[in-house]
Amino acid sequence: MNRKDTMWIVIVAFVIIAVVLGMRWFTQADSEKNGNPIIVNTISEDSTTSRAFTWQTDGNKLPAKLQLMEGEEATFEGDQILNYEGTTSSIDLDTGSTVWVHKVEATNLKPGTKYQYRVGDGSDEGWSKVLTFETAPVTNDFTFVYTTDSQGETRSDFELWKNTMDKALKTFSGASFVVHAGDFVEDAGSGDAWNFFMEASTAWISRIPIVPVIGNNDVVDGEFGRFASFFNTPDNGASKLSGTETNYSFEYGSAHIAVLNTEGSIKQQTEWLEEDLANTDKEWKIVAMHRPIYGGNTYKKIQDWAEVIDEYEVDLVLQGHNHEYSRSYPVRDGQITGDGSDSIRNHEGTVYVVANASGPKFNEQKVDQFYHKVHFQNYKQMFAGITIQDHTLTYQAYDLDGNLLDEFHIQH
Ligand SMILES: [Fe+2]
Repeated sequence: MNRKDTMWIVIVAFVIIAVVLGMRWFTQADSEKNGNPIIVNTISEDSTTSRAFTWQTDGNKLPAKLQLMEGEEATFEGDQILNYEGTTSSIDLDTGSTVWVHKVEATNLKPGTKYQYRVGDGSDEGWSKVLTFETAPVTNDFTFVYTTDSQGETRSDFELWKNTMDKALKTFSGASFVVHAGDFVEDAGSGDAWNFFMEASTAWISRIPIVPVIGNNDVVDGEFGRFASFFNTPDNGASKLSGTETNYSFEYGSAHIAVLNTEGSIKQQTEWLEEDLANTDKEWKIVAMHRPIYGGNTYKKIQDWAEVIDEYEVDLVLQGHNHEYSRSYPVRDGQITGDGSDSIRNHEGTVYVVANASGPKFNEQKVDQFYHKVHFQNYKQMFAGITIQDHTLTYQAYDLDGNLLDEFHIQH
């Protein structure tokens, strides 16, 4: 055999190995989607005693069942199993295919308790692999991650989101949940983009709850149904808003968190927000929305929300949309309040943040506004950790490389 023949054998062998590995990879991705669907866990209205789950399948319509067992080593045998049944509905995709959306809520759970769970149709062979989650403890203190605009199209776009979340959950390893302030995907009608998003989130999304905020790119033909089909969020939003599960609130520790849909009816949500904030006695009030009120530009339609935020002395507003970093001075009635330091005291105003983007897309830095305390474009994926401890809220924003780029405290 001459050198040329040997070279050809090596090339052919290499191509065969690459094809086999590639096929195995695709089969794995496919089985995640169908045989072992990706299960998204979300927070229910009461985070200490309940938890919600969503997964999708294609093929035949199947029931939505959930089994839970307490502890580390669940056998799913005996009479310790907790059984729940939820709903199965269908959603038609732009591609002409139909997927089944399964949603179940587990209730009457014990606070601060580890559970093992599996979902499926209830038949012997019809269960997912066993996963875990933990209910919120009865404590005031906790940490959560806030990030926004993963907004990808391709698998490699969502690698950036994956890297951001890997870093975020390493930096804030005790995070109780993740707030995503919207624009999960570039085109919400694309099934591929959602699959890539879910694949890139498998390491945590079945265990650490996501708090989804709908963005303008997550809307398909004015409808919120595609977005809502991935998440089982509290059904306590503005009652007449189409796709109510895009506007909701929940309580965690000493905080009340309200999520708004900037793409839905603003008036209905203004009334809802007023009532929602009036009815909580939690120390900390946080609002999350996609398009910003104070973020370098202002979405004029949501000006009324600022009045409600002022009235109820909301501490912090988590925003998205602008794909640059900004943090406002505390603001009240359209004016900067306080002494300009990074320590905000005694409900002197509300701080509005945009933590750049967590995906591939960055915008050119906008013009500085009077309310900007911190404003930059570093063209790096970012995330923030928010820690509530006693009467102090600490906000820390990092870039993907682990550089701490902004920090402030709110003290009551
Ligand atoms: Fe966006």
